[in-house]
Amino acid sequence: MAQARDQWGSRLGFVLAASGSAVGLGNLWKFPYIAWDNHGGAFVLVYLACIMVVGMPVMMSEIIIGRRAQTSPVPAFGELGHPRWAFVGWLGVASGIMILSFYCVIAGWSISSFVQCIKWSVSGYDAPANDAFGIFLAKGPLQLFLTATFMAITAWIVSRGISGGIEKATKILMPVLLGIMILLVLNSVSLSGFGEALRFLFNPDFSEFERHGVLEALGHAFFTLSLGMGAMITYGSYMKKSESITKASAAIVALDTVIALAACVIMYTVIFSFPEMKSQIGRSSVGMLFVTLPQMFYTKMGLGVLLGPVFYILVAFAALSSTISLLEVVVALLVDKLNWTRVKSTAVASGFIFFFSIFCALSLGASSWASTFEFFGTSDTGLGAALNNRFFADKQGFLALFDHFSANWMLPVGGLFITLFAGWVLSRKTSAEELDMVGPDGSTHWIFRTWLFFVRFVAPLGIGWIIVRVIMGEDFS
Ligand code: PHE
Repeated sequence: MAQARDQWGSRLGFVLAASGSAVGLGNLWKFPYIAWDNHGGAFVLVYLACIMVVGMPVMMSEIIIGRRAQTSPVPAFGELGHPRWAFVGWLGVASGIMILSFYCVIAGWSISSFVQCIKWSVSGYDAPANDAFGIFLAKGPLQLFLTATFMAITAWIVSRGISGGIEKATKILMPVLLGIMILLVLNSVSLSGFGEALRFLFNPDFSEFERHGVLEALGHAFFTLSLGMGAMITYGSYMKKSESITKASAAIVALDTVIALAACVIMYTVIFSFPEMKSQIGRSSVGMLFVTLPQMFYTKMGLGVLLGPVFYILVAFAALSSTISLLEVVVALLVDKLNWTRVKSTAVASGFIFFFSIFCALSLGASSWASTFEFFGTSDTGLGAALNNRFFADKQGFLALFDHFSANWMLPVGGLFITLFAGWVLSRKTSAEELDMVGPDGSTHWIFRTWLFFVRFVAPLGIGWIIVRVIMGEDFS
């Protein structure tokens, strides 16, 4: 017989854990570089639209499904009376496995950046060579070690359950993270590139916008809010009935967006203030968080000696609260469906996912096969090349492919089914009850009706339209 389901212990528990899941490498590492690659302004605007029109309604839908079903995503649909929809849960589990396998690799870099910063703080800064990051990425055993370490820490916390570990940790981590971000933004204001950074971010120029940009914006909206793969269904299943789903969703979405934009302001200010930094970004903007920023701490900031190491601890923790939620989706499935113990489920799930991590960790230079791998073959012409372009934006190597495919295809498709389910399959009565928006006379609140309109029409049509146009090769510029 199943035991009573673990729950978040306090009112803030869910909000903090769910924002811990949302705020992560997506905000600090990914958003600044994809917004940079997509030329800022116009992309940011499209992204914000995706957050409002699609992100917020899907967030509410996932939490409704989870809290109502009181179980993990695969059995959740059956629990609500629609077992045929279980495939959406399976799709989510597959996305979770794919995301976690490359996410752990990048999260591992925060450990090495931390160690690097400590060294610099203790024995003085010595400027790294221009290709230092590339050399670091190509060190196979080191990459594997860092990835394995991060996976092990994640597994250890997940194996300890919901309320004790995750909740306690996020309660300390999130406020500290916010504090440090504010400090860094304040520091940016005093630098010469601040104005240009704001212009780059908030002054849209649609003539520079490219086709993949719109799918990338949508994909990133899902990725950064941890949507489309059941993480919020899972966390919602541990939420108390007395809490407001609408307020919690609004808080998570707002916090996540503010932190992503703040991360851009911080990094772009440095880039625009110090022209030599711009040349550093060069071919790959991916390393912004791990290359540009550490140098700023030690060359441009008085308090950098202190903030450097602290900042990378925070990056590691932000990443950790996200990897925990990714692993939790898979572990909760094994616990709920197979009745395995949490420890056994965690060991099996993390071991299985680490197998895929190996390919990702070696795909940044350590193995040339893994680094140049393309799903549809490496030929430059023909059907394979066309498919590589359409589905993977010509990216190469396991990490880049997993990242692109999970965020840009699997999450939006998962999210599409979740909105369709919440809007058209789940009864109005159920969702209105979960949102606590039925009056004594049975009438519903206007917020509920707006949500329903978005979930029924706006979000699915928006997601569907983008997916279809991109498949057909539409150029959005
Ligand atoms: N939202 C996390 C981030 O921005 C990533 C994530 C995606 C976590 C999907 C869980 C589920 O880093």
